[in-house]
Amino acid sequence: MIKLENIHKIYKLDKKHTLHALKGIDLHINKGEIFGVIGLSGAGKSTLIRIINMLETPTEGRVIVDNADITDYKESQLRSVRKQIGMIFQQFNLLSSLTVAKNVAFPLELDGCNSKEDIDKRVKELLKMVGLEDKADVYPAQLSGGQKQRVGIARALATNPKILLCDEATSALDPKTTSSILKLLCQLRDKLGLTIVIITHQLEVIKECCDRVAVIDEGLISEMGNTIDIFANPQKSLTRRLVSAVVRKDLNALLEYTKLSDTYKAGAKAWFELLFLGDKAEDPVIVEVATLLNVKIGIMSGQINRIQNQPLGVLVVSVEGDEDTIKRAYEELQKRVYRAHLVGYQVEEA
Ligand SMILES: Nc1ncnc2c1ncn2[C@@H]1O[C@H](COP(=O)(O)OP(=O)(O)O)[C@@H](O)[C@H]1O
Ligand SMILES: [Mg+2]
Repeated sequence: MIKLENIHKIYKLDKKHTLHALKGIDLHINKGEIFGVIGLSGAGKSTLIRIINMLETPTEGRVIVDNADITDYKESQLRSVRKQIGMIFQQFNLLSSLTVAKNVAFPLELDGCNSKEDIDKRVKELLKMVGLEDKADVYPAQLSGGQKQRVGIARALATNPKILLCDEATSALDPKTTSSILKLLCQLRDKLGLTIVIITHQLEVIKECCDRVAVIDEGLISEMGNTIDIFANPQKSLTRRLVSAVVRKDLNALLEYTKLSDTYKAGAKAWFELLFLGDKAEDPVIVEVATLLNVKIGIMSGQINRIQNQPLGVLVVSVEGDEDTIKRAYEELQKRVYRAHLVGYQVEEA
């Protein structure tokens, strides 16, 4: 549905200075996919998403949407392409002087639809779709953030687009509201066959609803894959850091008051982090290894994330014993879980 080929964007800052915001992006997004782009602030995410609907012209590279190369389209041609591409924003961008219904009707009027009856019917339909039937005559100021974004979504879908672009659409919302908006996006994808691109700096958002994700770092894609793979097996240090903040929340909290050492000392407990993926999550790994080696294994923290309907479990265990026993326990654990690694040695009592 969307193909970006070798996209560069160089902003001219003044006569002497330029800024290379995108440095050769290649991206293929499939029809009906929810595709996430994550990166730190300034990485180039907004530039990238604005290139998909040509609100920003690439300095180099090709933009192909629904099999049409739109890179060299004139403004008049782009207008009809943009009808196929809805967009929602962090700040909702609603018109405060218009009611909810009028906000949603706005793109229909722009599109030249002048039958009041048709517009009313379509607006009703759209508001129902986003769960705001009862708010038609209310002004944006009277709505919560989540409701404002629902209006934003209804407005973005007014002209029946094939693609929905979301630029930090949930970044101004609390976690619960974020979750409800993401659920709505998933439903809309299923119901309308939309292709959705989600730009965010929050991996929580990616975790909840993206099929695939690209990590963007200083204008380049540093890592890309199925969401579950990126979470279970991140390759680059930036990705690991982002993933860690979500998947390792409990362990990180624990490590704030338990200092671990990198080297073994007599009497130390070794902490291992164990990752469980899919059906492996149900094996009695801890009991097996404890029995096999006759060691004590304690559970320090545990967390299960559901990603693309698969469980990804993270368990932190401590193993007590001499260095050799700990080494053997590590080997046995590694055989039985998706991934295991040593976090460190606890020398003193926590
Ligand atoms: N219109 C512009 N003119 C000049 N520089 C810009 C413009 N838009 C963005 N930039 C710069 O390009 C880089 C990427 O910005 P942006 O795409 O907004 O990043 P993100 O959305 O990931 O935070 C930043 O360094 C930003 O300052
Ligand atoms: Mg941005």
